[in-house]
Amino acid sequence: MSLFDLTGKTAFVTGASRGIGRAMAAALADAGADVAVVARTAAGLADVADDVTAAGRRAVVIPADVTDEASVTAAVGAAIDELGHVDIVINNAGGSNFMVGFRDLRISGWEKLIRLNLTSAVYVCHAFADHLLGRGSGSVINVASVAGVASAPLLTPYGAAKAGLISLTKSLAVEWAGSGVRVNALCPGWTATELNRNLWEDPQAGPATVATVPMRRWARAEEMAGPAVFLASDAASYLTGQTIVVDGGQTVSP
Ligand SMILES: NC(=O)c1ccc[n+]([C@@H]2O[C@H](COP(=O)([O-])OP(=O)(O)OC[C@H]3O[C@@H](n4cnc5c(N)ncnc54)[C@H](OP(=O)(O)O)[C@@H]3O)[C@@H](O)[C@H]2O)c1
Repeated sequence: MSLFDLTGKTAFVTGASRGIGRAMAAALADAGADVAVVARTAAGLADVADDVTAAGRRAVVIPADVTDEASVTAAVGAAIDELGHVDIVINNAGGSNFMVGFRDLRISGWEKLIRLNLTSAVYVCHAFADHLLGRGSGSVINVASVAGVASAPLLTPYGAAKAGLISLTKSLAVEWAGSGVRVNALCPGWTATELNRNLWEDPQAGPATVATVPMRRWARAEEMAGPAVFLASDAASYLTGQTIVVDGGQTVSP
């Protein structure tokens, strides 16, 4: 178990107020880390802060909008000030709130989703670069998607943003490897959260969505947390630039 122990480590998790980010923040705390939790809505952040403190760890609540560079810079500064240092950075905030064929896609919609799912992580990594490289250690985890690995019909901006996030992961991993900072991507498959409640709650659409997933079910948000703890921990000390796909076998299915 000591390989996965995060005692004395500190983490910064975006999109931590619900879903996958909340599960990751709680699991990091269970493994021993203090956690700065970031999202726009204070009420959700209070809930995840309760999870962290229930695990006996310190929670720092930071309301911020990851699509706003100044907001991100302030959030990163506040996390470093409050926690003293940050070892683990999880760029998890993201999503897509529409599906549309490419022909009907508005450029404003494209730009909005690229900013939410890709540029946001650029803001965070930029704001943390001096701190992480100066300390000579750290683990950055970018939450991408199977949509960034395979095709993403009707979700072209989301798929392109997540593919870009995987590319950013590889390039930063190589640039930062010599400084002891690891950068990896975690790609969830279909995971039942608020993001897609309209699908998994529907008696027809829910099972139909996962019909081609070999495990034949939706993931729970908590099933993304173990891989995140692994990537954050010394168990992954020689692992960088990689894309861990957690999708019940979806992307290897014939
Ligand atoms: N669920 C899936 O099936 C699935 C599959 C593949 C990849 N993913 C990825 O996994 C990540 C988490 O998804 P999820 O399913 O957990 O989504 P979710 O339940 O909708 O949660 C999204 C989180 O991000 C925060 N957020 C959204 N926009 C933000 C902004 N501009 N600034 C700061 N925080 C923001 C939300 O809080 P506020 O609204 O309060 O800001 C919330 O905490 C996303 O990157 C998503 O693309 C999800």
